[in-house]
Amino acid sequence: MQAWVIGNWKQNPATSRDVDTLLEGLLTAIYADTKFSSNCCNLMVAPSDIHLAAVNARLKDTSVLCSAQDISAHSATTGAYTGDCSAQQVVDAGATWTILGHSERRQYHQESHECLLQKMTHAFTQNLGVVFCIGETQTQYDAKQTLEVIDNQLSVIKDLLDQQPDITVSLAGRLIIAYEPVWAIGTGKVPTVYEVSKTHQHIKQTVAGFANNLEDMTVLYGGSVNADNADSFALDSMIDGALVGGASLKAESFLAIAKAFS
Ligand code: PGA
Repeated sequence: MQAWVIGNWKQNPATSRDVDTLLEGLLTAIYADTKFSSNCCNLMVAPSDIHLAAVNARLKDTSVLCSAQDISAHSATTGAYTGDCSAQQVVDAGATWTILGHSERRQYHQESHECLLQKMTHAFTQNLGVVFCIGETQTQYDAKQTLEVIDNQLSVIKDLLDQQPDITVSLAGRLIIAYEPVWAIGTGKVPTVYEVSKTHQHIKQTVAGFANNLEDMTVLYGGSVNADNADSFALDSMIDGALVGGASLKAESFLAIAKAFS
């Protein structure tokens, strides 16, 4: 299975010029590095919607893909939803994937099971791939509730399949799960590779139980992945790549992580 390394830029960088600098740095580093082969690792970046079209234009004819960070729950296309951006609109801007259910969306926008079910449905109707984020909080981790929390969050996929059995075909290869413990995001704290591996095994088994063609689900780890710890995650066969926040904002560290997984 080819690894995925995805840069979640969140609400960064501040200006279009800074976006250009980051992107040029990344592409220059990729071309200059003879040891890095993009054939061995899928690379993707997820800029803010405002930068999506420009980033996509620059990435055309390169192997780096472009993802949105979120889409509207209200409509897959158009409508009176001030401030929202639909699946159709991000596709038009060049995104081929979208992140959904990131813990920052769950926390700051109160994204619920129903909301994420809507978003996932809209994504697939517009042929957008989905990087679906799941993970437990520190309190849930301390209470040893990780698997229970994860099962609950994964039930969005089960409900989607129950509602629309025909969608199964388009899910294969168009769905990636990113396991991101909330307490590891941006904190410098990481679970052990063993813990991540066991959790990924559980996720793969659970999703495989939803539909035959969801066996061998790509499951990424996210949360304080950096150039120094990427190797240890990459060595584990259950960890199919990384969703990277802070370290994706510097070309060198993002490429170092990509190399670890390629
Ligand atoms: P981090 O963020 O790498 O800065 O911890 C990961 C994420 O939020 O996807």
